[in-house]
Amino acid sequence: MKVYTKCSNYASETCPCVLAESGHCIVCSMCSGEDFCNCSDTVSFCVLQELKNNGGRAKDQHHIMKCTVTYETIYDDVTKLIRVSIPDGHVKDFVNLGSFVFVRVYENTFYDVPISVLYEDIYHDSIELMIQLQGVKTKCFRDLKAGDTIFLRGPYLNGIQGLGPISRLRDGKALVICRGIGLFPSLHAIFELKKNNNQVEIYLDGGSFSRNLIRVAKDLYELDANEISFLDPEGNISPKLCRVIDDAIKDDVGLIHLGVSDYLLKKIIGHIETSSERKVALSCINNTHMCCGEGICGACTRNADAKRIVHLCKEQMDVYEYSKILV
Ligand SMILES: Cc1cc2nc3c(=O)[nH]c(=O)nc-3n(C[C@H](O)[C@H](O)[C@H](O)COP(=O)(O)OP(=O)(O)OC[C@H]3O[C@@H](n4cnc5c(N)ncnc54)[C@H](O)[C@@H]3O)c2cc1C
Ligand code: FES
Repeated sequence: MKVYTKCSNYASETCPCVLAESGHCIVCSMCSGEDFCNCSDTVSFCVLQELKNNGGRAKDQHHIMKCTVTYETIYDDVTKLIRVSIPDGHVKDFVNLGSFVFVRVYENTFYDVPISVLYEDIYHDSIELMIQLQGVKTKCFRDLKAGDTIFLRGPYLNGIQGLGPISRLRDGKALVICRGIGLFPSLHAIFELKKNNNQVEIYLDGGSFSRNLIRVAKDLYELDANEISFLDPEGNISPKLCRVIDDAIKDDVGLIHLGVSDYLLKKIIGHIETSSERKVALSCINNTHMCCGEGICGACTRNADAKRIVHLCKEQMDVYEYSKILV
């Protein structure tokens, strides 16, 4: 399979990054030692030229910020909402679609956990994070109180696959399907689709982790959403969800966004591929295990073929192809 990817950091404030400096740029063939330029499908930003302008060095990368928690609340004892104040007017950097941060309570960077920015308030210099308390890293947030300090690194931009299809849909129809915590990393996508004058139909399944999550989301973010069960008792996608998807495709939906686990993502895409006559545009949340977020450590890599490794912390892919390389 020939896989085409784009870099979510391309032309951002941190581009060119250490990958360009070290000859491994995702976008620029010449930074990677080729004799020809294959940047024809990118905007007017030349990574090679920027690298030369910067003396052959990467631009300043993401700094670790010490931030104060200004508000916290816990739902069902398993999901924690925290509001964090962002220093020095940096909050405007967090507004982008797909923004996420690495956060931790302790000095030790081993505890860094990727969490999506679900809401940013540029007037009060703060962002909100919703954290499901699951394992060793996230459970450290359980006792966090207002006034406590957390360490934050970011923002990173690849929290959603399919950024292009979301931004391009205007005056159209979108279907959003989210289960459990997958709703919160999808909020930016929902807001962006609504901002671009699209009719957005939202279907939610609370999942198995937290009973009140959907009610909380509806109240906090004023979501008009339908609740159905996505899975049948055998773990297959439910007939109700199949019907919702099939009807939307017949009704000319321009994009389907999936805020679900990788397991459900593969099932849903399998259903779309077998039942739909057209290739409807897709976007989804990025559930990859990540450590550095910079394309360096390799925690997020998948083999697209024998020679091609994809770094899912940075690379944007066609969501149909993305679902094929998930394990
Ligand atoms: C871009 C991105 C945005 C995310 N946004 C949110 C969010 O807004 N809210 C939220 O609650 N969670 C979010 N996650 C998932 C969150 O990072 C993981 O739940 C967390 O890392 C689990 O760590 P743990 O040590 O607490 O649990 P573990 O015991 O390590 O794992 C518990 C579960 O989380 C999964 N997981 C473990 N590490 C990671 C990782 N680095 N990345 C992804 N999944 C992992 C495991 O497969 C397992 O299912 C996001 C993940 C990514 C990649
Ligand atoms: S998370 Fe380190 S390379 Fe992607």
